Amino acid sequence: MVSYHLKPFTIFGPSPSPKCCIIRPETERGLIFDVGDTFFRQESATGRDLAVLSAAIYKKSHNALRVLDAMCGCGVRSLRYLVEADADFVLANDANEDCGKIISGNLEKAGRERKSWLVTHSDATRVFAECFLKRDYFDLIDIDSFGSESSFLRDAMRAVKLNGLLYLTSTDGFTSGGHRPQHSLAAYGAYIRPTPYSNEIGLRMLIGGAVREASVLGYHVVPLFSYYSFHGPVFRVMLQVRRGKLPKNRHYGFTSYCTKCGNSGEVSWTELGQISCSCSNVCLTTYHSSRFACCFRAALDRASPLCSLSSRDSRFGWGMGLDLQWNWERS
Ligand SMILES: C[S@@+](CC[C@H](N)C(=O)[O-])C[C@H]1O[C@@H](n2cnc3c(N)ncnc32)[C@H](O)[C@@H]1O
Ligand SMILES: [Zn+2]
Repeated sequence: MVSYHLKPFTIFGPSPSPKCCIIRPETERGLIFDVGDTFFRQESATGRDLAVLSAAIYKKSHNALRVLDAMCGCGVRSLRYLVEADADFVLANDANEDCGKIISGNLEKAGRERKSWLVTHSDATRVFAECFLKRDYFDLIDIDSFGSESSFLRDAMRAVKLNGLLYLTSTDGFTSGGHRPQHSLAAYGAYIRPTPYSNEIGLRMLIGGAVREASVLGYHVVPLFSYYSFHGPVFRVMLQVRRGKLPKNRHYGFTSYCTKCGNSGEVSWTELGQISCSCSNVCLTTYHSSRFACCFRAALDRASPLCSLSSRDSRFGWGMGLDLQWNWERS
């Protein structure tokens, strides 16, 4: 196993008793764990379900699964990756050292026979950078971050295997709602203005930010699913990282919204400056206030079936009413 200089908190020891005095047992999909006073939201269960399903599909397809749970909180995802997705190894990291005993106590529940895991406490960016420098790549990197934090994106892409998965989160409803355009510009390269479909824009903004960072490294990302939840709000996207830049940036452009008639459209980079709406036939930027945002443009519901797994699969004792079919392209 690769060693980390990340102040690893505990490895393979006997189950420690939680340090914090608060014991808060929770149950999710039949697994019992303790959340103590770590950050935990029951409402995020569906987001975790989707991640576990993706990981299980990946494992079935690749026969290997190493997961980096970069901001793991109490470690519930790490536990679920080990137990439900049959991960071979999980690196459970959280910058907050106070989470340590809770995390390792929970991961002990996965059993030690076939399971391997490590708990570390470091800034996620540092973990990604160290993994990259050690050429210790992961099949799935899960980043359950707060707000519109995006500074770690490029380092995370360096630490994921080619054709591996990156699970990203944004919880910044102000930014997706177009109320902090300078902020969305800095975080995701998208100047977001208010639109009637801000939830969708929030997902496209997040994917667009990843497209931009991947492009710098000579990669492109393919969205496997996107998920918006009103609590938070929370925007989650599962991306596959592939070699090669996005061809002709055809999925990376602008969304226009006409404030006069409410029409929306797609605008490519080469069409900037010629934006018009059928309600006026006059260039929108000069006639009345148009709103357009640079973001990911392709359909978000596209999926091609190669490998499929239903969430009602008998291996899982729970169901979300979703049947998922995704394509794992191996280039
Ligand atoms: C949303 S909570 C994680 C919840 C957990 N993934 C779950 O599903 O229950 C975010 C966690 O990230 C940790 N965190 C925040 N910034 C971090 C950073 N830069 N690097 C590593 N961990 C960080 C926080 O301590 C917190 O526990
Ligand atoms: Zn119009």
